Amino acid sequence: MNGSYTAKDLYKWIEEDESMIYLDVRNEEDFSRFSVEGPNEISLINIPYFDFIENPSLASARLPKDLPIRVICAKEGSAKFVAETLEQQGFADVLWLQEGIVSWGNVLIPKQIPTLSNYNLWQFNRPGKASCSYGLLSGRELAIFDASRNVDFYLSFAKKLGVEISHVFETHLQADYISGGPRLSEKAGVQYLAHEEDYSGSHVNYRPVQDGEKIVMNNGTGPEILVTHSPGHTPGSTTYVIDEKFMISGDTVFIVSVGRPDLGKKVVEWASRLYETLKHRIGVLPDSLLVLPGHYTDWENESDDDFIIMNDFATVKQINEKIYSIDDEEEFIQFIVENMREQPAVYNEIRKVNAGLIAPSDDEQNVMDLGKNECAASHMLN
Ligand SMILES: [Fe+2]
Repeated sequence: MNGSYTAKDLYKWIEEDESMIYLDVRNEEDFSRFSVEGPNEISLINIPYFDFIENPSLASARLPKDLPIRVICAKEGSAKFVAETLEQQGFADVLWLQEGIVSWGNVLIPKQIPTLSNYNLWQFNRPGKASCSYGLLSGRELAIFDASRNVDFYLSFAKKLGVEISHVFETHLQADYISGGPRLSEKAGVQYLAHEEDYSGSHVNYRPVQDGEKIVMNNGTGPEILVTHSPGHTPGSTTYVIDEKFMISGDTVFIVSVGRPDLGKKVVEWASRLYETLKHRIGVLPDSLLVLPGHYTDWENESDDDFIIMNDFATVKQINEKIYSIDDEEEFIQFIVENMREQPAVYNEIRKVNAGLIAPSDDEQNVMDLGKNECAASHMLN
């Protein structure tokens, strides 16, 4: 009898570089749109499910018999069927992914970031989206930044620690994934904190954050969260500086590249604001700050040895010297324009969901929310 595995297992095997074959049995179109990627290279093979129905022995013959096979499909039924077929064909170690590719798209991997202080910080990496949310714990208060729509994850994370979610922050109105922020704040019974330049036209119940505002956790005894308005990627983009040590930068500063300011179709105006932000608002922050971004593009250049997507601001500026060294606004706008590319059509719809203007069904949201982000201003800087 074959068994199943979870998206969490899948991440662990990739991180530990286990020798396995990942067999995706979705059709070629869905596979080319979105497939499993992680911190290490994997052997990923796409053989559509119908090939196993039509000719099981021929389809199976395309796979090596001496390695474990981990089957992936859209929902889980076809992966289970293919796993059974492979067993009948003499494969010994075959497992199928529970709840299909959507569970991979939604899985969050918590990584604790050393703070050397009396508070704790986690990066919740969402490998299916190449995005990160964050948790900051002080005493019994847990602040969440940029929650994904897997709201139950944060609630049970807090429950396991025996603490309460105290703040729900958003760095900006996201275009590439459906935010869990409004729902999480509602379930936790706390305010949703976001910038009015992104949310004033929304139907979301939020409390506006102010540039320069300082929020101190745990009745004034915990870490200070400094609100820094950093417009460009969106007009309301906000960077949260924690305890003068960490910069939760949303889609303003990435480890590689910066957040693209062309998603709102006002490229010159927003690029000009991003230039101002990078020069005079973010660029002046200390080099020692550790950058915790909202997204990454590739693990190899952006994660540290512990698979945390983080680097100090001095190194980040060095990596992206091409961007940070531009001292002329026109030149900066030109750089952005030259690096512009299409944005996925679904981004417009996702923005509307995040602004509370439309409310698709859960299944529709699952489809909208699947796929890697396209938030960086340039794919390759060198
Ligand atoms: Fe974004």
